[in-house]
Amino acid sequence: MIMGGKRLSGEVTISGAKNAAVAVIPAALLVEGTCRIENVPAIKDVDVIVDILRCLGARVKYIDGHCLEINCEKINGFSAPYEMTRKMRASYYLLGALLGRFHHAEVPPPGGCNFGTRPIDMHIKGFEALGAKVGIDKGVIEAHAVKLRAAQIYMDVASVGATINIMLAATRAEGTTIIENASKEPHVVDVANFLSAMGANVRGAGTDTIKINGVEKMGGGTYTIIPDQIEAGTFMIAAAATAGDVLVKNVIPKHLESLTAKLVEMNTSVEEYGDSIRVSRDGPLRKANVKTLPYPGFPTDLQPQIVTLLSAARGTSVITESVWDNRFQYVDELRRLGAKISVDGKLAVIEGVETLSGAPVKATDLRAGASMVIAGLMARGVTEIRELRHIDRGYEDLEAKLRALGAQIARRGDSEIKSIGEVV
Ligand code: EPU
Repeated sequence: MIMGGKRLSGEVTISGAKNAAVAVIPAALLVEGTCRIENVPAIKDVDVIVDILRCLGARVKYIDGHCLEINCEKINGFSAPYEMTRKMRASYYLLGALLGRFHHAEVPPPGGCNFGTRPIDMHIKGFEALGAKVGIDKGVIEAHAVKLRAAQIYMDVASVGATINIMLAATRAEGTTIIENASKEPHVVDVANFLSAMGANVRGAGTDTIKINGVEKMGGGTYTIIPDQIEAGTFMIAAAATAGDVLVKNVIPKHLESLTAKLVEMNTSVEEYGDSIRVSRDGPLRKANVKTLPYPGFPTDLQPQIVTLLSAARGTSVITESVWDNRFQYVDELRRLGAKISVDGKLAVIEGVETLSGAPVKATDLRAGASMVIAGLMARGVTEIRELRHIDRGYEDLEAKLRALGAQIARRGDSEIKSIGEVV
């Protein structure tokens, strides 16, 4: 529950990147020695992927809340249980990692946020190009290879998941694999850096072309996960939304350039430092048009949050969602707070209103949940948010971090309602 209208001010420290962590942790399956992984975010998706690894026989030890040691020398199965994989999208990385190391993987189709069809055809094409046979038997994706051989793979659509998955499998294939039209997202680069730190040979991540020289063995090492670009962006938008003044610490400002440019266009002040960004606003918010694109474009994972911000900006804004077919489901919830938004396919037209008014809403998925929190912070009165499990998948201590910035936000421990808190 949130009592809106409080200006956020102070400092917030951003956690490790969810979408890097959920790839790096299963990537440890490729490694014979021990991987020490630092700056791991304390979120539900990490708990799930750690549980899956343990279930496969990996030894996983928490050194502290944000540092893990994983040893996958002895693995006792190649089959991930459906009850676990259905909880998250990133379970598909088990396919690339198990296939790379053991030449065999059995993984049920992944779960995760629902925004239209989320195919994995490019992952499968990539594995097949490396010499694997991939099929579905009783609802389980089975990938098997007698031997993995390097290939040149062109991706029809730049896919983050397929780029990483092919990279995982190719680290242990014979020869040099080349991925063309690869995704360039910061977490693709982070996974490549992790793999190289563990003994793989990956070059070019962050550009259109990634080259992977297969190695016979990966021995282990220590790696620190990058800060979460999307969590940082969510706090930057929350600062702008409440006419606040917030120093967002432990970030890589370059990863946030597309958002920074939009916030400035909307009349927000953004100052960049080495590893922090200060966001503040005094004047009214101005309209802006936003188109989501693969990195370095504006991230789709900040689309619900920026739409929420624009819902109270002066003028009419147009948002084009060009990554996912159906990522405006949360708009119905925003309308409950008084937002004026019309949606036509992948386009949303937002007519800015003076203020939003608190109301009961639900989180329809992870980032939509974050946008409900931002809406609640902006709105007059009390907003109650249900289905917080979506938010818990990807944000570490969201309400504690916001409370430290002055937000009136709390979570009620009622297992039926599971709403953010008890305010006032
Ligand atoms: N696509 C295909 N075939 C494929 C794979 C993807 O057609 O085999 C299409 C998708 O339908 C989509 C586009 O390619 O239209 C991009 O999908 P991508 O594969 O890049 O998405 P993903 O790997 O499934 C990751 C993030 C998402 C984020 C997208 C786009 C993880 C675990 N998930 O998903 O993050 O929206 O990239 O940047 O890394 C989130 O964190 O809230 C989240 C949903």
